[in-house]
Amino acid sequence: MSCQICINCHEKYGIDEIIYFCKKCGDILEIKIDLEKVALTIKTGDYKRAPLSVWRYRDFMPIHDATSVVTLGEGGTGLHYSKRLGEILGLTDLWIKNEGENPTGSFKDRGMTVGVTKAVELGASHVICASTGNTSASLAAYAARAGIRCTVLIPSGKIAYGKLSQAMIHGAKVLQVKGNFDEALEFVLKLAEKHRSIYLLNSINPFRIEGQKSLGYEICEQLCSNDAPDRLIVPVGNAGNISAIWKGFKEFYNLDLITKLPKMTGIQAAGSAPIAKAIKSHSSKIIPVAEPETVATAIRIGAPVSWKKAINAINESHGIAETVTDDEILDAQKLLAQIEGIFVEPASAASIAGLRKLVRNGIINKDERVVCVTTGHGLKDPDTAIKMCEKPIEVDAEMSAIEKALGIKTN
Ligand code: F0G
Repeated sequence: MSCQICINCHEKYGIDEIIYFCKKCGDILEIKIDLEKVALTIKTGDYKRAPLSVWRYRDFMPIHDATSVVTLGEGGTGLHYSKRLGEILGLTDLWIKNEGENPTGSFKDRGMTVGVTKAVELGASHVICASTGNTSASLAAYAARAGIRCTVLIPSGKIAYGKLSQAMIHGAKVLQVKGNFDEALEFVLKLAEKHRSIYLLNSINPFRIEGQKSLGYEICEQLCSNDAPDRLIVPVGNAGNISAIWKGFKEFYNLDLITKLPKMTGIQAAGSAPIAKAIKSHSSKIIPVAEPETVATAIRIGAPVSWKKAINAINESHGIAETVTDDEILDAQKLLAQIEGIFVEPASAASIAGLRKLVRNGIINKDERVVCVTTGHGLKDPDTAIKMCEKPIEVDAEMSAIEKALGIKTN
């Protein structure tokens, strides 16, 4: 039977118990899926008839059969072969998994469709999260879809406008905390502990991770080899996503659906990089960053709650972690937009910036099959994009003025 299990002491809890931390040791939980049961269910291969999406993998999700799901059509995002960018970076087999193609424009929707479905299954009528922006946008949308109350806590002045507008238009109660994300998360954890009727949907909630693991499944099914890539690169903030993708790959591997596992490669912004620093110094613990800073506000996180899962994913997979500066992030964002036509927000571009650095440093081989996950759409943060680009030229409404601006000779 599937259950919730502590990642440290392995104490087990029921699949319908509302619990965020282990009662015995205080560590975080994950879902242990009954893979023997999944193996029997998927034997017919029926699941492959459904279109690529999170719910194609319903048999792999800890949701009861009778439950109707809260969905907006998440997952099934493009895996784009990136020939031109590969040539520039010196790689022959580079792919971009563009999560900006999800309903609210980020990978968070994979977790929220499962998390909010579970919330409704458990009878919750009020959901909450702390967020650097995308989680709040996604939760607000799925709560609206489910018809339940939603509260989001965001760091004041440090979230991109697109994301704020999403949380607001979907009707969430938005509280701007005069502090950073880590402080906002402390508050929602305490709130959910104190008021049991409020259901917490940060990535500490293991049902969120279950939805996000579908990212790993999809990549394997999209690649022509029907196998895992050699390397998976992903930006890391609170560290839920890298843990989730790794869980997805491992489950497919344990079900004999793939023959190998990728090297998990996590990229952090230099000003918010506790996990990358721990990996680089071969430490099994992080030192939280008290005042994280980066232009990539989505990953401006100093005390990632899932750090232990992330370090484990990187080490177990023989992967690596790297840091990138804000300038490297913004350069990579522009490069991807102009070379491949894929517009991503700065945090997403961290994976491309990290790839570039790791190729340059000889860590990544030129013929590796690399999948870079771009986590959120560029329109989430139009202000940063506009600041980086040449200003539009204002011209008189006359053909000659337009031709002059284009440097075309007039007759
Ligand atoms: N990329 C984007 C665009 C994000 O919004 C986030 C996290 C990450 C990467 C990092 O993912 O936290 O699972 O390691 N955003 C969260 C939020 C924290 O509140 O929207 P992670």
